[in-house]
Amino acid sequence: MADQLDDRAAVLVQGARVARFATTDQHGEPHIVPVCFAWDETRAYIALDEKPKRVAPTDLQRVRNILANPAAALLVDYYNDDWRRLAWVMLRGQATLLEVDSREHEAAVALLREKYPQYRAMAIEQQPVIALTPERVRSWFASDELSVDEIVRPTLPWPALVRGRRSVRQYTDRVVTRVVVEQLIEAGGWAPSPHGRQPWRFAVITSAVVKMRLAEAMGVEWRRNLAMDGEDEAVVNLRLAKSRARILGTPLIIIPCLYLAELDVYPDQQRQAAETTMAVQSIGAAAQNILLTAYALGLDGGWVCAPLFCPEVVIAALGLATNWQPHALLTIGYAAADPKRRPRKPLDELAVWYE
Ligand SMILES: Cc1cc2nc3c(=O)[nH]c(=O)nc-3n(C[C@H](O)[C@H](O)[C@H](O)COP(=O)(O)O)c2cc1C
Repeated sequence: MADQLDDRAAVLVQGARVARFATTDQHGEPHIVPVCFAWDETRAYIALDEKPKRVAPTDLQRVRNILANPAAALLVDYYNDDWRRLAWVMLRGQATLLEVDSREHEAAVALLREKYPQYRAMAIEQQPVIALTPERVRSWFASDELSVDEIVRPTLPWPALVRGRRSVRQYTDRVVTRVVVEQLIEAGGWAPSPHGRQPWRFAVITSAVVKMRLAEAMGVEWRRNLAMDGEDEAVVNLRLAKSRARILGTPLIIIPCLYLAELDVYPDQQRQAAETTMAVQSIGAAAQNILLTAYALGLDGGWVCAPLFCPEVVIAALGLATNWQPHALLTIGYAAADPKRRPRKPLDELAVWYE
């Protein structure tokens, strides 16, 4: 291979589930199709598989093109609305058809089946496999800072997203950009809510001065509560210092506030109370949207309940309107360490089934 893939490009190619494969016919007419492929660090392999096709695999346009003109290209691209995460890798070289029963064909089929379980049930071993040997490699990354992990996270399937999120309590000092913050708030706003009333507002804090003011104010209230519990002075001081450090050491704080002003109004107290409960429930959904979106964007988050115990203190410290009721404090940033993963209850404990 004339060019080498650098480390990030190699990981992107290795991890991609789909790529675009380009060939031309004898007249130079371009042809491009999305393909599943496997990469063995020197060549890319594409099966002629049993996905529904209009013609026999060996009559496919891409196969006829390769026989007429073996010059081909494979483009692995990643798209995300967070444009720092754009990236692509292009492999250009010669494509050949690996004949059935050759050693390389056998190895390519095994590699494809390892990557795509769907191929285990398809007779791909009975068809030639396309092999592309790159001679020229080009790659482009929108940001030099992002790791491959951060680039590919947005394409996580749900188990990786939902299980991957966990409460992080320590962050690096890397700044969370405004573009990211806006996506998080928008994600919060897409949560379900009673009658679509969107009973939430968010205080977004990145200012060190405001974080300090908030930590001090909540600290006074917490000290009062701990003293009421009869906690030892030294223990109180330690806990307060930790809580303060946590707030000050968080790049981004989002305070979801309950906003009841636009809820439906009922003549009876019971329905009104249910309406308020629904609004509180939907604040939780909005917070989870924010935490999952943060994770999908390569960040992490944590949930701190402190504002719920001193909403007036938070309102005063932030100068919020009094009809914004602070319900939680979400810490967001880039994790300084991998936190422990708390195990979850088994399914049979979680659900009762009516089938
Ligand atoms: C309503 C609510 C309040 C929470 N309050 C706090 C808190 O004040 N401090 C904290 O460190 N974690 C808090 N958490 C986070 C939980 O401790 C955490 O979600 C739980 O231990 C499971 O861990 P995981 O999120 O990593 O899966 C809170 C979570 C929820 C849903």
